[in-house]
Amino acid sequence: MTTNISYSYYNPVETIFGVHAFKKILPTIQKYVQNNHILIVSDENLLNILGIHENLHTLLKANGYTADFFEKPGKYSSISIIDRGAERVRKHQYGLIIGIGGGSAMDTAKCMAILGRNNGSINDYLKKGKSLEKTGVPLILVPTTAGTGSEVTRWATVWDLGDFFKKFSLSDPKMFAKASIIDPTLLLKLPPKMSAMTGLDALSQAIEAYWSKNHNPVSDEFALKSIELILENITKMFHNPSDLSYRTQMALGSMFSGLAFSNTKTTAVHSVSYPMTLHFNIPHGLACALTLGEFIKFNALETPNNTLEAPQRLQTIISLFKTKTAEEAALKLTMIMKEMALETKLSQFNIDENGIEKIIAEGFTPDRVKHNPRLVTKEDLREILHNIK
Ligand SMILES: [Fe+2]
Repeated sequence: MTTNISYSYYNPVETIFGVHAFKKILPTIQKYVQNNHILIVSDENLLNILGIHENLHTLLKANGYTADFFEKPGKYSSISIIDRGAERVRKHQYGLIIGIGGGSAMDTAKCMAILGRNNGSINDYLKKGKSLEKTGVPLILVPTTAGTGSEVTRWATVWDLGDFFKKFSLSDPKMFAKASIIDPTLLLKLPPKMSAMTGLDALSQAIEAYWSKNHNPVSDEFALKSIELILENITKMFHNPSDLSYRTQMALGSMFSGLAFSNTKTTAVHSVSYPMTLHFNIPHGLACALTLGEFIKFNALETPNNTLEAPQRLQTIISLFKTKTAEEAALKLTMIMKEMALETKLSQFNIDENGIEKIIAEGFTPDRVKHNPRLVTKEDLREILHNIK
């Protein structure tokens, strides 16, 4: 038995999980709020769709709070939206921010909370190396997808849709939320296809956390449980979107995925997905799923530029797919995607040779791809993308 185990794992977010957990919003607010002005950040019109806008407003008012609402337009957590939101937080000196929605709404809320107490544009922090000195406004996150895992991570994806036209990440331990409320009933209105794509994002994050060079025994446990839960429930959830039991298992799988990759970051699959989303409008989870099977095959190979342990660890992932080889696991993933009416080829998004070269040119995010267990070269990525042409 080895004694050579040494790691640190850190995640300070209180997670409040369960069917109707959202009813615990008031005591959670009371625990963390610093003054009686509260800002709720959400996706556009989401609170009305979920039927919680009026109830939340009434509840807060009845308990002595003023509630303001900030609805994020569109699907991206963009620089202009975040700067506008941060300005508003500084002006009104909120004592708590609640972010409700998918990954981009929660990431917007995260950035607004930290920038609300740190001056300047988010550009200063992303591009000029300015550091976040002060702690942010206390933050509670409520995911309505399962999901990005953003509710338990210390970073936010920020899209520069201007001249740079690039995906950035703002990351700091001060950006962790105080608490996350994960209520599977809030997932029921999410259309099956969107649920499928966000579920595949969570699956990809968990698999990448498990094979990441940064993995540790704690992240491993969360990652394996997440992979198992998602593979067991994702198609059942797709075919039975109103069934709360599958939604609950997917919510749990997504949270475990977040707890795993909150300490490892993602790897090559996520890195390659960003230009696919930015230039070809492929939703994030689907962009990850498109190359996930190919990277399972790639990382499973014993080669001189792979870590010694990777092929063995890949075997554990392969067995969770209830398959014997990496090829079979990749094929199974393709079948799962087809069963959920998702695209599996780049040509279905009109990505031609030029498009593939664009993805290769922008697909190497150093902070992500360096954690992949096997070194990825441009030639490797070209071959992977041609395999899913
Ligand atoms: Fe992701």
